[in-house]
Amino acid sequence: MRRMAGSGEWRCAADDLPPGRTLTLRLACRGRAVDGFVVNHGGVVRAWINRCPHVGTPLDLWPNDFYAEDGRALVCSTHGALFDPVTGACVAGPCAGDALVPLPVRREAGSLVVRCPA
Ligand code: FES
Repeated sequence: MRRMAGSGEWRCAADDLPPGRTLTLRLACRGRAVDGFVVNHGGVVRAWINRCPHVGTPLDLWPNDFYAEDGRALVCSTHGALFDPVTGACVAGPCAGDALVPLPVRREAGSLVVRCPA
């Protein structure tokens, strides 16, 4: 079950995000909608705001399509920037040296919980 609470919290069952998968999410943060996504990269779970640091577009032209073909990096569909799925660093493309903005994510029992940034 996935839900967004008015408090700015999104959660899903951890089993819904096996390695190599991503899920999109939306938070309500201080009255504003924040679109993000969670990624399980080889067992390491991270959450990022879905906004490319180059021009500010969402990374996924096709919803929830974040991985590059080789499955080793995340890719921005607009101009092809590549991001490290664990650090969020832009490792190639027009925003090299910049990074995705993280969202806090934690495991609680069998769930993954993403919250608004502090
Ligand atoms: S908007 Fe993402 S690479 Fe240009």
